[in-house]
Amino acid sequence: MKILVTGGLGYIGSHTVVELLQKDHEVIILDNLYNSSLDILARIHKITGKTPNFYQGNMGDEALVQRIFSENGKIDCCIHFAGLKVINESLENPLGYYSNNISCTLTLLKVLGKNNCRNFIFSSSASVYGDAAHVPVSEETPKGECSNPYAWSKSFTEQILYDLYQSDKTWNIVVLRYFNPVGAHASHLIGEIHQSAPPNLMPYITQVALGQREKLFIFGSDYPTRDGTGVRDFIHVVDLAKGHIAALGVFNTQNASPAYRIYNLGTGEGHSVLEIVQTFERVNSVKIPYALVERRPADIAVSFADVNKVYNELGWKSTLNLEDMCRDSYLFAKEYLESIK
Ligand code: NAD
Ligand code: UD1
Repeated sequence: MKILVTGGLGYIGSHTVVELLQKDHEVIILDNLYNSSLDILARIHKITGKTPNFYQGNMGDEALVQRIFSENGKIDCCIHFAGLKVINESLENPLGYYSNNISCTLTLLKVLGKNNCRNFIFSSSASVYGDAAHVPVSEETPKGECSNPYAWSKSFTEQILYDLYQSDKTWNIVVLRYFNPVGAHASHLIGEIHQSAPPNLMPYITQVALGQREKLFIFGSDYPTRDGTGVRDFIHVVDLAKGHIAALGVFNTQNASPAYRIYNLGTGEGHSVLEIVQTFERVNSVKIPYALVERRPADIAVSFADVNKVYNELGWKSTLNLEDMCRDSYLFAKEYLESIK
């Protein structure tokens, strides 16, 4: 397939591009380098021996997206990763987040439709469930109240995609709700890069392990969980990337008609913050000093996915475990730091 990947130099996008190239798909990346760099393209080449066609620019630039079609001919599908993802930033700059994540996506969709590229995979988030009443969370669970503009931008975009499909049933849309992506490619050439203090758990732990931060602050030790700390469904980014390959299958099946489909991408297992810390220490032979502090506002106690639907319909399930996630997160961060010295 010929596939347009927006945000293809970002964390999840770059891992998916590697999987796509290794499956001999033709990849065209559109990324404005807001949260990535051209160096990632060279690293993708190092892993796969291939260099995808790359356009630097904004997915909301209609003329640029049209030019991609004019220069590349028929494109079979778009995997849409491009977006801003920092929750605190979205609270400070909601208009910027809605503009980038929603308005730019509207422009992208308009050009895709005009060029008959109506197979679309969207990066959504488990945060659209809000504080779900039951775990595991299945796709049937009603969406909930989001606690920040970032999460709302995902929830709204899902609705927009649903309305688009209802208005024109030649659109074939797959919404993937990611749980908590962590880890890095086994080559340790690509992974999650943070220039400043990372908001998420695993990158913060790796920075503590590398001596960039003194200690980890564990937000909340009085949750109704097995050890009092929050529980999440951490999923290795390579498994997540492979979930996108599985999702492409719905565009290939001769008999399946276009549809609007939603799938959870998680492992189906919850792990507590303390379990992550202990596993990280054991696997990497490092010490992670930590302090138990107040809960983080708007955090939920427990979240993990029901993964039956994605397995039954797409045949996908995660294969990598918590040890793999902790090891790859650490080794990537360590090797990346050394490579940019
Ligand atoms: P990322 O920031 O590493 O990658 C996003 C990429 O999109 C970056 O390379 C950035 O430069 C690019 N980009 C942003 N706005 C753009 C625009 N207007 N035009 C062109 N390029 C643009 O993020 P990620 O972790 O790889 O996440 C990918 C997608 O998955 C995002 O939509 C994110 O919201 C979603 N998601 C991520 C997580 C997570 O924990 N990482 C969880 C759930 C959902
Ligand atoms: C957040 C986002 C979600 C996004 C996900 C993965 C919300 C409400 N949450 O979820 O949209 O998909 O990130 O990027 O929108 N923790 C600490 N110390 C830290 C950091 C985190 O104890 O320094 C704890 C948290 O309290 C939580 C767990 O670790 O219990 C996981 O936190 P985090 O990695 O930020 O992910 P989420 O809160 O699940």
